[in-house]
Amino acid sequence: MQNSIATAVVGLQWGDEGKGKIVDLLTSRHDVIVRYNGGANAGHSVQVGAERYALHLVPSGILHPDKSCVIGNGVVVDPEKLLQEIEGLRARGVKVGSNLLVSDRAHVVMPYHKEQDAALEDFMAGATSDQSGSLAIGTTRRGIGPTYGDKVHRTTAIRVGDLLDAAYLRERLRVICSLRTRELKALGVQAPPLDPDALAARFAEAGEKLRPHITDTVYGLHDALKAGRRLLFEGANASLLDIDHGTYPYVTSSNCSTLGIPAGTGLPMRNIGRVLGIMKAYSTRVGGGPFPTELLDAIGEGIRTRGREFGTTTGRPRRVGWLDLVAVRYASMICGATGIACTLLDVLSGVDELRICTGYRLPDGRTTDRFIPDAHRLEGAAAVYETLPGWREPIRDAEDREALPDNARRYLDRIERILGLPIEMVGVGPDRRQTLEAVGTA
Ligand code: GDP
Ligand code: IMO
Ligand code: MG
Repeated sequence: MQNSIATAVVGLQWGDEGKGKIVDLLTSRHDVIVRYNGGANAGHSVQVGAERYALHLVPSGILHPDKSCVIGNGVVVDPEKLLQEIEGLRARGVKVGSNLLVSDRAHVVMPYHKEQDAALEDFMAGATSDQSGSLAIGTTRRGIGPTYGDKVHRTTAIRVGDLLDAAYLRERLRVICSLRTRELKALGVQAPPLDPDALAARFAEAGEKLRPHITDTVYGLHDALKAGRRLLFEGANASLLDIDHGTYPYVTSSNCSTLGIPAGTGLPMRNIGRVLGIMKAYSTRVGGGPFPTELLDAIGEGIRTRGREFGTTTGRPRRVGWLDLVAVRYASMICGATGIACTLLDVLSGVDELRICTGYRLPDGRTTDRFIPDAHRLEGAAAVYETLPGWREPIRDAEDREALPDNARRYLDRIERILGLPIEMVGVGPDRRQTLEAVGTA
């Protein structure tokens, strides 16, 4: 019998909503923290006093030594990056040992996946489109798309468990490298042919180093549930980047909404009780794709500077815009959000008037309050706004929601009304402690 219900933390915009900080905060009330999707394209920051951590593959619960962290089967793992991340954490005194488990069924990002990712992006950037400009997605070039592509192709894929059998790995890589060398050449990559034996030796070595962490996490997670342990799922990337439900094709290659949890962990839907949707008080997006509320003026520049909106993974400046509640309401709907964490509210201090997008005007003049999860059609939509008065006061030292300036409280109240969901947490600064929680929230 299972006697615990799991919590999911998921981004409701285009990423970087502050999921890392909220996962770290909720870890103390859970036992097992589980990543179910994405890979090292994610960059989750946790700030504890003067210490700042950027997590990419390791779940953001790792700073709590008494909790277990699991990289589920739905994640794509770059073994060398993972080892580097583990070493980096250990060098800072963070315990990483039997508290980190990696699914033997997670797929492996190989060096040729990163070359494919870059070559495809360069090719697409060179190809122009009259309709939507650059066709490049603006990926993180971490090999995410090509690795999930191989997962779907099947015969060209390598899984984490394969790294533990050197002879089998070599045999597989001989065929894969012969094919991939030809494909890379066709994409214009000037490089010597891939050497399967060298790659096999290199990745078998990485596999040996990871061996203590590699296991069948599906049984492990079911056992944890049966034992009454509380699970916390950590979404990477975000709902509007979901391969099926995001602004396709300007998305990532996994189901990053909560819909990815069952497939990416092997746990049935009914185990997920609480879904906390994370939403910035404004919008950001990295890379290409439509962004109806984008701000290309001094207000946007001010938000980017105050919010330090530069990528945790790639360092790229993030595009900034007004809060798009059409998009967030849609993301909450597909994720089954039960509550909201509104982060980075402090960044809006000093903006005289705030805008909230509540609808889109379509090219034929009609308006809609429904999101358009298709890049080409969304490009034609113009945001329809409500305007609210801003506040001047800094709010980083606020200790509860009641202590916020009137207009900040009105902004939150209006968001709750439009979304029809309670805001359970409000972020007023990057530190773990700068989070206001509604009384009675678990
Ligand atoms: P994630 O990918 O969703 O985990 O988000 P990132 O860590 O990539 O980006 C969020 C950024 O905002 C990080 O630099 C966080 O330290 C920071 N942050 C999180 N919450 C708050 C907040 O409430 N206020 C401010 N000012 N910064 C925050
Ligand atoms: P976290 O977990 C912001 C974006 C990339 C690009 C698109 C596809 O930190 O919120 P990919 O490398 O995945 O093929 O890139 O998706 N992207 C993210 N943007 N935060 C992320 O993760 C992202 N993960 C992917 O910028 O536009
Ligand atoms: Mg991030």
